[in-house]
Amino acid sequence: QKLQMNLDQIEKGGYEHFMLKEIYEQPSAIEDTYRGRMLVNEGIIKMSGIDDHLNRFLNANRIIIVACGTSWHAGLVAEYIFEDLARIPVEVEYASEFRYRNPVIGKGDVLIAISQSGETADTMAAIKLAKENGAFVFGVCNVVGSSISRVTDAGAYTHAGPEIGVASTKAFTTQITILTLIALKLGKEKGSINNSDFHMYLREMDLIPSKIEKALQSNEHILEVANHYKNSRNCLYLGRGYNFPVALEGALKLKEISYIHAEGYPAAEMKHGPIALIDEEMPVVVIATKKGHYEKVVSNVQEIKSRKGKIIAIVTEGDEQVSQIADHTITIPDTFEALTPLLTTIPLQLLSYHIAVMLGKNVDQPRNLAKSVTVE
Ligand code: AGP
Repeated sequence: QKLQMNLDQIEKGGYEHFMLKEIYEQPSAIEDTYRGRMLVNEGIIKMSGIDDHLNRFLNANRIIIVACGTSWHAGLVAEYIFEDLARIPVEVEYASEFRYRNPVIGKGDVLIAISQSGETADTMAAIKLAKENGAFVFGVCNVVGSSISRVTDAGAYTHAGPEIGVASTKAFTTQITILTLIALKLGKEKGSINNSDFHMYLREMDLIPSKIEKALQSNEHILEVANHYKNSRNCLYLGRGYNFPVALEGALKLKEISYIHAEGYPAAEMKHGPIALIDEEMPVVVIATKKGHYEKVVSNVQEIKSRKGKIIAIVTEGDEQVSQIADHTITIPDTFEALTPLLTTIPLQLLSYHIAVMLGKNVDQPRNLAKSVTVE
């Protein structure tokens, strides 16, 4: 029994759960993702899966991203980045919906399938449908040699290392990293990003691991915040722009490991109904980084405050406005708007982790969940 305990501890690298280990592995996982691909000094991004099919991507009518769960959230972040930086039309679809809705797919379409396990049945089925209709399929997987990585026309592995916790963490941030590199590469090839901006992005990407390390230093503070909200029955997550998908992801994390109902929403959508939910029993996590429509998020926060909502704000260090209004504030380092999801997701992962642990839940193997959904 004792030996097993020790083996278990070794496997978890001394962390109490695989999920916590994988949250803390994100700085090194992201470095592994862009090692050999992002050459900052030379100012180039090398990805054979893209280089060998560059014209497919540059001449694509549109890019269709199919995925499930957290991988679908990474796809949503990619939609913002691809359209903003590479000016290529992108649509993101739940694989389970795409495979059955008789979608219009043609030769000019590029499908990007995102899957950590590379075994998700819905995503596999969407890929097969797209291939039957002549689309070019690119895979973003973490498990080398997985089924999806074998059926796609090309692809890129995230190299995040094994992700054991059912709740996906480092897979999410490494997927976003890969997709950001692709968007930057295509943007540069298309000329929608000029040389100096391209170099600026590479240098900032290179700083992301250390900025995640800094965000992880809020862990003790997040533990205290978690203690305030562990008995909540519901929780709202709000974000705008690049951080709207992060709000969805934060809500999914809380749902799947603490079993507390949570919902992610675009912050500006609150006034179209959901604000009726706000009262002192409804904690609201608001991603209010000092980028993208900050002033509008401030007014969203004020609307919630005036209805006695409890606010947990994720803000950029040095923030002066939102932190004066919110009940709890968690800071992250500043970065480019397009790269904020890589940082804003960190406190949300830790918040859901600590709440679940306080509630005595099985964090690594939540009830009813499998690490890879290989059935419909
Ligand atoms: C995320 O925390 C969940 N474990 C789940 O939503 C997961 O992202 C989804 O099942 C997709 O899995 P895949 O990336 O392996 O395809």
